[in-house]
Amino acid sequence: MENTIRLVGISGSLRHTSHNTSTLRAVKEVLPENVEYEILDLAHVPFYNQDVESVGIPEAVQQLVDQLAQADAIVVASPEYNGMIPGVLKNALDWFSRPSVRAAIDGKPVGLIGASLSPNAAARANKQLFTLLTNMRTAPQEGSEVLVGEATAKFSPDGKLIDAEILSKLQKLVEKLVEAVEAKNTVEVAA
Ligand code: FNR
Repeated sequence: MENTIRLVGISGSLRHTSHNTSTLRAVKEVLPENVEYEILDLAHVPFYNQDVESVGIPEAVQQLVDQLAQADAIVVASPEYNGMIPGVLKNALDWFSRPSVRAAIDGKPVGLIGASLSPNAAARANKQLFTLLTNMRTAPQEGSEVLVGEATAKFSPDGKLIDAEILSKLQKLVEKLVEAVEAKNTVEVAA
């Protein structure tokens, strides 16, 4: 029996019919049997404020940190707003990077997804996200990004991914994350 690997998804869009969240939902279709998966909800994360942090990590943030702590790998799907990642996502990642909670993400493999309405497919935001995740000392996986351009055409009206090529890329992304987790576990056992 293979070891269970836990994967969590984070969407940078709070929109009910978000293409980024829909892409994260499509990940469920390509999961190997030994991978458990849940999508986190950033809707209740307060604005980062060091005065608030000095009193204690807010409950809404702590709940997400607890879920991240259980995860072996993370997949982040981000839209592009004016060429950058949305404030909602940056704000949440800033909380997760704080010293008292950052162990929950430290060194963990991260897969990147970017969906947008333009053909450019959130590529600029994706680059920034890669840099940000590197600065946060996670392990963003290079070369396996899944960029979903002209996203409206890639989903059915009820939000189901209908593009076989994107689904295949999601499968490769999950495979890469599983490999990265297994490689990390091997190093940690050897150490
Ligand atoms: C956008 N959009 C957008 N798209 C893009 O490819 N590059 C961009 O710079 C921007 N800028 C931008 C700014 C703001 C404020 C909004 C609200 C939107 C369009 C964006 O791709 C589209 O709204 C996506 O559908 C957002 O992702 P979700 O919500 O579908 O996941």
